[in-house]
Amino acid sequence: MQEYESHIRAAVVNGTGYGGIELVRLLSHHPVFDLVEVTARTEVGTAVTSLFPSLQGLDLSFSASVEQADLVFVALPDQAAVEMVPELLAEGRRVVDLSAAFRLKNQALYTRWYQYEHPAPAILEEAVYGLPEFARDRLPEAHLVACPGCYPTAAVLALAPALRAQLIEPDIIVDAKSGLSGAGRTLSTGTHYSEANEDTSAYGLSGHRHWPEINQELTRLVDSGELNLTFIPHLVPMTRGILSTCYASLRPGVTKEMVQQVYEEAYRTEPFTRLVATAPHTKWTLGSNLCFVYPTVTHEGGRLVVLSVLDNLVKGAAGQAVQCANVMYRLPEDLGLPTKGVYP
Ligand SMILES: NC(=O)c1ccc[n+]([C@@H]2O[C@H](COP(=O)([O-])OP(=O)(O)OC[C@H]3O[C@@H](n4cnc5c(N)ncnc54)[C@H](OP(=O)(O)O)[C@@H]3O)[C@@H](O)[C@H]2O)c1
Repeated sequence: MQEYESHIRAAVVNGTGYGGIELVRLLSHHPVFDLVEVTARTEVGTAVTSLFPSLQGLDLSFSASVEQADLVFVALPDQAAVEMVPELLAEGRRVVDLSAAFRLKNQALYTRWYQYEHPAPAILEEAVYGLPEFARDRLPEAHLVACPGCYPTAAVLALAPALRAQLIEPDIIVDAKSGLSGAGRTLSTGTHYSEANEDTSAYGLSGHRHWPEINQELTRLVDSGELNLTFIPHLVPMTRGILSTCYASLRPGVTKEMVQQVYEEAYRTEPFTRLVATAPHTKWTLGSNLCFVYPTVTHEGGRLVVLSVLDNLVKGAAGQAVQCANVMYRLPEDLGLPTKGVYP
């Protein structure tokens, strides 16, 4: 492995949740980002490995706050992140935030979808929405990167090429399935084993918080500026993974060959987002930063169906955060990131 001369001190806030501990796993063998601090509320002073034995060899204990790091990965619930991130920025640190606290550009959307008045609208303006496939040029200057949600990552990667090339009508259905780790580590009745095992159900039918985010990112690609988006998430009994099945009507004259060409051009050189020739499985991405995209046209013609799969905790969260940070520091984009999935 290539040796890098300069190193950057990195921290994870907090390391006790699913997103946080996945960041710790990825950063623990990153050749440039040196993990110097992992914070917690409830486990200050506890060795990280005593809570997470899978990380044997990591010599760090949970701390109460960030003291030394120049780069901070924040993996907190939105309302904790919205308070913490401005403080970290004011201390001169660069921040990659996994929460939704800085993803939406319109402050009023927080009142409507998150039920709080956003306290830092100026920071909303400057935050870079961290989908590297479409934000590469803005990441090197960013002080704050707002990493996309797991469902929005899958949906936007599936649909952006078709919308940008005006191949489809701006009337889209995103039918998405997620594993249970998408809901975080805190136990709730719906994620209890006996409730979720051997069960599948839709949720958020009256409006899921990822709707305004998907809508924001896809609307900017529509020439008319008007998008009709239906997004229905489902919970399925698996630990990790998202499968997004997206439907839209093709514009007159658009053929399967044109669709294929547009997607090939969009993702030919991408390190993680790959076009595949058959319907992808969530298992293909397990533990990796990959997103597989499969565009097809229905056999009776007229409708585009795009499938995308990813691991919600890697490309949908921690892996994408590290990918963004690599671009922020002008490092190879795939540095320290898994490009192969675990199988079976
Ligand atoms: N899970 C996913 O697939 C996924 C994907 C993309 C983005 N995200 C986003 O990433 C963030 C973390 O999600 P997660 O799934 O890792 O959640 P999680 O497993 O529930 O972990 C939440 C973390 O936040 C801390 N925390 C909880 N309430 C807090 C509070 N009021 N003040 C300070 N710290 C608090 C917890 O620390 P203690 O244990 O010390 O209390 C824990 O470390 C969320 O914003 C989520 O939306 C998650």
